[in-house]
Amino acid sequence: MKNLTSIYSLATVCLASLLLWSCGRAGGENTGSEYMPDMAHSIAYEANYNSYYLNNTWDGEEAYRSYAGPRKPVKGTVARGYLPSKYQNLEDYRTSADETHVALQEKVRAMMMADASLQNELTLDSKKELEKVLLEGGHLYSINCEVCHGDKLDGNGVLYNEGEGKYSAKPANLVNEEFSAATDGRFLSAILHGKGMMQSHVDKMSPMERWKVIHYIRSMQAKKNGTEYNPVGNVNVAPTAVSLEESFEALMNDVKAGTVAGEDLKIGLDNVLYSVGKADLKAESYGTLNSLVSLLTANPSVKIEISGHTDNTGDSAKNLQLSEDRAHAVYDYLIGHGIATERLAYKGYGDTNPLTSNDTEEGMKQNRRTELKIVQ
Ligand code: HEC
Repeated sequence: MKNLTSIYSLATVCLASLLLWSCGRAGGENTGSEYMPDMAHSIAYEANYNSYYLNNTWDGEEAYRSYAGPRKPVKGTVARGYLPSKYQNLEDYRTSADETHVALQEKVRAMMMADASLQNELTLDSKKELEKVLLEGGHLYSINCEVCHGDKLDGNGVLYNEGEGKYSAKPANLVNEEFSAATDGRFLSAILHGKGMMQSHVDKMSPMERWKVIHYIRSMQAKKNGTEYNPVGNVNVAPTAVSLEESFEALMNDVKAGTVAGEDLKIGLDNVLYSVGKADLKAESYGTLNSLVSLLTANPSVKIEISGHTDNTGDSAKNLQLSEDRAHAVYDYLIGHGIATERLAYKGYGDTNPLTSNDTEEGMKQNRRTELKIVQ
């Protein structure tokens, strides 16, 4: 009986030491050990993510945070899936680790969407090649996108089915006016990163396959608009209008050279649109505004004034108020996206500052506008 008790005590001591030993601390050269390896939560270094590493409780709060908080990608690299090969400025993105994953993705998205020079990398030399690419692109589209975006690309695939389907989020209509005018970067960004309820499709297709799908989408837009899709010989297929980036850069160069002053320090903000008679920003405005956010972020010393202008229909006092409210809406958007209040001002000019005569519809359209002016 006495022996049995000693065996029990010995066993208890052994078990206790085993338990103590198994939870050895990590530190220095010692990797540490856990009694039961945590196989559910990877401690792999996933750049820019908050990792769920709840089970690291052997150290204090601070050590836990350093494991679980977002970490920067290894020097000279970019977190996977973030950028198309075109962008070479790795350092900016490496050091963005303090931002959340979603904020960073939005930033990259805004940059890609606004970049008219990011164009289909699959260049075509002949009509025959184009036909082949469109056939393959159409095939890839039907495998990867059609269930949601539909065979007409109008956003009404079987999964959505006018809101009656299994999938409640409405997929984008890829052949409407907005997307026909969108840059290639907007499509590539959707494929790489997804958007809203659409998941990333980065692992579904190779880089060139992605461009094939984009060629296919472009060809279907052309078909819908009754035009011919002809990218053969690398004709510029993206919209050719001067982008905000280009006009901003040109203005900044002039500012640095000291060749502009006063009224010339202005740029019109194209595609910043509001609901009729109201100051609510329409969703189509976000592309331009996000580009502006990126430009202001990249040029931290620049201060601007946002101005609102109307045409001359209706009451002047009301127009003045409306233009002020609209400029305010843009101001709020910029602040909401991280631009410091001290760098921004807004003002409504109503109908007092027309660009052209209000006698024609076209003239009135030009006069209803939002502008930015560099004030420093
Ligand atoms: C499971 C459904 C689903 C699939 C599959 C899908 N999408 Fe989407 N897609 C959506 C939804 C939903 C949206 C709207 C997201 C939003 O605006 O919040 C969307 C939006 C988009 C947009 C617009 C993004 C923007 O900038 O506003 C593009 C472009 C797009 N999808 C392309 C594609 C392509 C190309 C494929 C195939 C490779 C694809 N999608 C596959 C559901 C899907």
